Amino acid sequence: MPLATLKDLKSPKGKRVLLRVDFNVPLGPKGEIGHEEDARIRAALPTIQRLRKAGARVIIVSHLGRPEGREAKYSLRPVAEHLAKLLDKDVPLIADGFDEDRLVDKKIAAMKNGDVSMLENIRFYKGEDSNGSFLARRLASFADVYVDDAFAVAHREAASNVGVTKHLPSYAGLLLETEVKHLDKLLGKPKKPFVVLMGGAKISSKLPTLKKLLAIADTVMVGGGMANNFFRAMGLDMGRSLVAPEDVKTAKGLLARHKHTLLLPKDVLVATRLDDKAEPRYCRPGEIRKDEHVVDLGAETIREWAAVIKKARTIVWNGPVGLFEVKKFSHGSISLGRMVAARSSGKAFGVVGGGETVQCLLRTGMEEYVDHVSTGGGAMLEYLAGKSLPGIKPLMKRSKKK
Ligand code: 3PG
Ligand code: MG
Repeated sequence: MPLATLKDLKSPKGKRVLLRVDFNVPLGPKGEIGHEEDARIRAALPTIQRLRKAGARVIIVSHLGRPEGREAKYSLRPVAEHLAKLLDKDVPLIADGFDEDRLVDKKIAAMKNGDVSMLENIRFYKGEDSNGSFLARRLASFADVYVDDAFAVAHREAASNVGVTKHLPSYAGLLLETEVKHLDKLLGKPKKPFVVLMGGAKISSKLPTLKKLLAIADTVMVGGGMANNFFRAMGLDMGRSLVAPEDVKTAKGLLARHKHTLLLPKDVLVATRLDDKAEPRYCRPGEIRKDEHVVDLGAETIREWAAVIKKARTIVWNGPVGLFEVKKFSHGSISLGRMVAARSSGKAFGVVGGGETVQCLLRTGMEEYVDHVSTGGGAMLEYLAGKSLPGIKPLMKRSKKK
């Protein structure tokens, strides 16, 4: 694995390190971050501490959510405060514009060895998502070297994880290095049966990956929002559940080509409201009423899928199979999470990844049984589907800048 890592970063003392992390974590209504929710933040601590101990000045860059411009609810302030608690050290948030004044530069110049500061949500700045060269250069101007620990966003080609590497010597952080090391065990020849469990809401972006996984895996179980598109493609009425016409088209093609590999829910849980006051009922996918949403897997499906997981030698899980944040709708995600964990470490090589998926896993209390818990959701799936990720490529030694 020819990644340039922290071992290759010579004499970090006094250096300004631009550290890209993925602190895209769910915030409570008042910006609170609970223990199940801060897994991605804790995962980057080893790199932050290693750099601090070596005397570097750490400038953290992250995105949060998908804001349209500067939306206050996507500010990283609560995240900076949370990190400060974990580090027991101030983490000032630098929220100034990059092009107006030189305030950012002054704040960074005032940092001392071992200090940590955090830039405001990088998606507030023009050019992040489009990998704009102004933003990439500006970010690079803040630092002497670049360290990337943002595995979870490595499938995106943005200014702060790809563009910036053109202008600074770039290294993988400890988390990114570990992710790649573990996931590489699955590339090539996964032990069979290779079973994938997929759900979640980010459907469009995961369909191309699903396509690739269908070609490699023995069984791919698709639940959650993703499954709705397949049901729609079969001509079923999905009531008030979200379906995307584009995805339905893709789903149709996949159904025709992969009917032996693709496993869809036999029954589902549906409800007319999306909170704990709901009175959900089980039904077949063809029996969903106009005013109902699909909120979880049905009981029969959970049993059937559990049996598939029990035979697996390799298991990958990404995406909750229902609206697990509502307790009444969490049964499918939690019970399958338990099954995946129980089957892992020993009987099967088990990998679980994604922000929400890891939250589910932590709720089972069985996370230590899983062979690798990945911070990446989409990134993990794309990596496993054999894609070279835009965020990882520039960290390879051969393309590393001097
Ligand atoms: C994630 O949570 O999957 C990553 O942080 C990437 O976020 P994105 O899907 O909004 O690019
Ligand atoms: Mg996510």
